[in-house]
Amino acid sequence: MDETTENPAIGAAPALTTPAAAEEVARAADAARCPFHHADAAALPGHAAAIPTTIGSPAVTAMAEARKTMVLTGASRGIGHATVRLFAEAGWRIITCSRQPFNRDRCPWEAGPDDHVQVDLNDHRALAFAIHDIKSRLGGRPLHALINNAGISPKSPDGSRLSSLTTPVTTWMEVFHVNFLAPVLLARGLFEELKAGQGTVVNVTSIVGMRVHPFAGTAYATSKAALACLTREMAHDFAPHGIRVNAIAPGEIKTDILSPETEQRLAPLIPMRRVGSPMEVAKVLYFLCSDAASYVTGEEIHINGGQTL
Ligand SMILES: NC(=O)c1ccc[n+]([C@@H]2O[C@H](COP(=O)([O-])OP(=O)(O)OC[C@H]3O[C@@H](n4cnc5c(N)ncnc54)[C@H](OP(=O)(O)O)[C@@H]3O)[C@@H](O)[C@H]2O)c1
Repeated sequence: MDETTENPAIGAAPALTTPAAAEEVARAADAARCPFHHADAAALPGHAAAIPTTIGSPAVTAMAEARKTMVLTGASRGIGHATVRLFAEAGWRIITCSRQPFNRDRCPWEAGPDDHVQVDLNDHRALAFAIHDIKSRLGGRPLHALINNAGISPKSPDGSRLSSLTTPVTTWMEVFHVNFLAPVLLARGLFEELKAGQGTVVNVTSIVGMRVHPFAGTAYATSKAALACLTREMAHDFAPHGIRVNAIAPGEIKTDILSPETEQRLAPLIPMRRVGSPMEVAKVLYFLCSDAASYVTGEEIHINGGQTL
């Protein structure tokens, strides 16, 4: 029996001969795999395992065509790493970008090495090649999401905060290239693909774009404030083309970017009395890239356990 016909989330199996039918199946499959309802979805008869998998069959070809695709910067660690895991579980194809080559031990997701673009976002000339590379990997297919997640937060050699009085010029340039310029260049470079996918851009800003922080430096803070402003500007400019643009502003999330003493010093001051996890951020990113957020644009969602209250 074809179990897809039994799945209440999918309904009667449509003929997969037209792009619209394929899109409908992909949407239903996506809904069935929604990570917010993962336990329920896995129990449904039409969950991923029941979807046809015969290589070369029209159903598989149509599903591959209709699969949602995302470009994500900074996937090798922290928030980006959790984001790939969540979206991959929901059936998305993810094209990742970071400086390091793909590492299968750290990143055990399907098609990882084939969909990894090694690029230093500090180098805007290299970024042009990376955009070209991403376009050829897309092969003319639409892009449904761009998440500008990669970011750097340099400290002084002794680990102390770099202020407006002490930040070297080269650090200002590097921070603004990676945290601010790369997001706008990527979004502009992939505009046609995002438009074709009626996609969405999410910029990862920070709580420090709004208030002085004991560890994060001035260049980092101002780059994130600029990125929040850029989010509004891009939302305004991209909306008429069907592309939504939002930001998320994490507070203290347990990743390599945190200073060693952050958790110990700041957790007691956070109303929820703990730092956040990368997966708690990834879930909000998923919401913003889903149909549940179809009328949300130009927003910055704060994920900080009440730290700014
Ligand atoms: N963790 C927090 O508490 C927190 C709070 C607020 C905002 N954020 C923001 O959240 C985002 C992710 O942070 P995270 O905590 O997950 O950081 P993380 O663990 O340090 O990871 C940063 C990621 O960015 C990539 N990256 C750094 N420099 C790059 C460059 N020049 N070119 C290409 N890729 C580069 C890194 O990959 P490679 O090393 O392989 O290049 C890595 O995958 C950042 O934008 C950060 O500012 C984090």
